[in-house]
Amino acid sequence: MVLRSQVAGCGSYLPARVVSNADLAKTLDTSDEWIVQRTGIRERRIAAEGEYTSDLALNAAQAALAMAGLQADDIDLIVCATSTPDETFPATATQVQARLGMTRGAAFDVQAVCSGFVFGLAVADNFIRAGQAGTALVIGAETFSRILDWEDRSTCVLFGDGAGAVVLRGVEGNGGATQRGILSTHIYSDGRHHDALYVDGGPSTTGTVGHVRMDGREVFRHAVVRMAEAIDTALEANGLTPGDIDWLVPHQANRRIIDAMARRLNLPEDRVIVTVDRHANTSAASIPLALCQAVTEEKIRQGDLILMEAMGGGFTWGSALLRW
Ligand code: ACO
Repeated sequence: MVLRSQVAGCGSYLPARVVSNADLAKTLDTSDEWIVQRTGIRERRIAAEGEYTSDLALNAAQAALAMAGLQADDIDLIVCATSTPDETFPATATQVQARLGMTRGAAFDVQAVCSGFVFGLAVADNFIRAGQAGTALVIGAETFSRILDWEDRSTCVLFGDGAGAVVLRGVEGNGGATQRGILSTHIYSDGRHHDALYVDGGPSTTGTVGHVRMDGREVFRHAVVRMAEAIDTALEANGLTPGDIDWLVPHQANRRIIDAMARRLNLPEDRVIVTVDRHANTSAASIPLALCQAVTEEKIRQGDLILMEAMGGGFTWGSALLRW
């Protein structure tokens, strides 16, 4: 018998304010046509003044707990993936912990930019499988709008704000590929690629928050290759093939990257969850947001095999296979 992390519930939250491509074109030298053609993005949500990453995270966490039918006291661990914490410290996860009314266990943040949710899943899954946590809340929450240079059209049109969360619970089973829960996570990083995607500020360097800087072509080139490698490794590790995948729930950075991954897996369009058109790139929040949407729409059903993949600044990248 082995312990496997099953998803007991998921939840998501989006700020109310919708900003369309046409809205951006009012103040920026860009167009709906350029943005849609290059990225598939049509609109994004932007957090209100005074609405912070912890607010988004809390809403998503509460929805996930409600779906799981659990209380804050049932949770042993909170892992919050974010690159846009409310403050340099303490961790946003501890703010969520306090506001949920959870007074035991541990809460901390994980920082892997757009791969953050996959990294967070990997951390929580390992805690559960090692028997160090019975139930874990994994959150991806971002207010990327706060670290964008709104005069840089090559980056500011790409991102949005939001949060998603899942509750994982350790359940014993035979450990086979048909057992529900997280089958595997594979995470990677290569710090040599810092200059392709980074924020030009921080507490130890400029003392300011800084803005996102990106070499889009370089990111694109690496994203497809690296994520494909992480997917192949995940399938091989579980004795599965692309034909076994029911749903691809990719990081939502760019429609063209998503389509390239789906083509490589020979997955039809209706087996790929796409939210980038409405959410843009919400970094660590994008996968749980997409996952929750697919669950709400009753696309994903019990027993379905879900493949998640992501890549982000660092570079970081990874994959997770989940039997729903
Ligand atoms: N509106 C209009 N024109 C624009 C805009 C814009 N918003 N942004 C850039 N341009 C212009 C450029 O100035 C350039 O003009 P020029 O030819 O006169 O110099 C032209 O469009 C082409 O620019 P490129 O950067 O070469 O455009 P490209 O085809 O590479 O598309 C894009 C840019 C969409 C960013 C693409 O490289 C991409 O998707 N990369 C992946 C990046 C990504 O997804 N990052 C997210 C974070 S990492 C992750 O999540 C995986």
